[in-house]
Amino acid sequence: MSLTYKGQNLYIDNTKINSIAKKNITPFYVYSLKKIKENYQSFSNYFKSVKPLICFSVKSNSNVSIISELAKLGSGADVVSEGELLKALKAKVKPSKIVFSGVGKTENELRTAIRKKVFLINIESESEARLINKISKKMGQITSIGIRINPGVDANTLSKISTGKIDSKFGLPKSNFLNFCKELKSFKNLKIKALSVHIGSQITSIEPYRKTLNVLLKIINLSKINFEYVDLGGGFGISYKDRDRKINIRNYSKLVNEFKKKINCKIIFEPGRFIVGNAGTLISKIIFIKKNGNTSFIIIDAGMNDFMRPALYNAKHDIVPVIKLRKKVISNVEFVGPICESTDTFIKYKNYSYIDENSFVAITNVGAYGSSLSSNYNTRPLVSEILIKKGKIKVIRKRQKISEII
Ligand SMILES: Cc1ncc(COP(=O)(O)O)c(C=O)c1O
Repeated sequence: MSLTYKGQNLYIDNTKINSIAKKNITPFYVYSLKKIKENYQSFSNYFKSVKPLICFSVKSNSNVSIISELAKLGSGADVVSEGELLKALKAKVKPSKIVFSGVGKTENELRTAIRKKVFLINIESESEARLINKISKKMGQITSIGIRINPGVDANTLSKISTGKIDSKFGLPKSNFLNFCKELKSFKNLKIKALSVHIGSQITSIEPYRKTLNVLLKIINLSKINFEYVDLGGGFGISYKDRDRKINIRNYSKLVNEFKKKINCKIIFEPGRFIVGNAGTLISKIIFIKKNGNTSFIIIDAGMNDFMRPALYNAKHDIVPVIKLRKKVISNVEFVGPICESTDTFIKYKNYSYIDENSFVAITNVGAYGSSLSSNYNTRPLVSEILIKKGKIKVIRKRQKISEII
């Protein structure tokens, strides 16, 4: 995390959050560019000997300034829609470093990706391969594709972010792929460039990855295709709370090295959460505090539309005061949003240090799947995003005006 207390005040890097909060309408996201860069460099260092193409997963944080900062470090992009593709291009990610994933790309989206000559389109069904071949033929192009395999591996993560099990909608199961190989090889306007896989998100053990690599080895041998690339997706788990387990990437990199030697291919990764997860904080203001029964409800101005993970995945993100008061403790506290839904709740504490109405709080580790998952539910405007860059405060997305939604 990029957050620390100096005295009573919470800081992001060396910037006092209370000063930013006083000047900007809450809620707002604030990111540490220093942390994002550190995360990217550490990911890249772990896999130094693999020399992968790192394609930042834009769905985890789709702010153009953030994608652009990562592009400057050499990152490519993993995109899942035409919108994300156009954002990546706007952020100056080279088309030769863009991977297009997704189970249901439309004909229009595919046409744009083919026209822009993205590096790879990862297909997830037989029909998609046929459609890309047809469009490419009409456009007189040869399109590079990857085949996303469903390896039938349980990532042992939250069921709602698990994608590698055989009964999930993602990828082609091994037997479907092998049956399809003959037809696939006959397509004149496709170049089969990669085998691809993504088994889920917030994965904290390397065992599911080990199993996946073994499945891929078998498939590569059976298909008799010389894949130039293997795209191993993302999913690297981070620790949301101090005691959380996180993935041992060093050990995983050893596995990937061995795998790479066996099949002599280049590697692609699509990390999202690992790069931005702990670099973002959502600052919110306490509107009211009230006691219902035994619970003290702390009602903040951020709602589930601004930050969806707790409502969607039951994820727990610590909420800390922007100024710590050294007063008594309140018991049975629940932080909730203002939205008329009982799932609009963030976290409960048995004991919490005293806090006042109108003071600011920080929801921690929200850099991934925070802002990118937000919505206009309850006709609430999308909030602003701020980047701390070398000590300077830069608004990288303006708060939406209500008139823009109406
Ligand atoms: C195809 C694909 N690649 C990469 C990612 C990024 O995953 P993560 O943010 O867990 O690294 C996702 C997210 O689910 C994905 O669907």
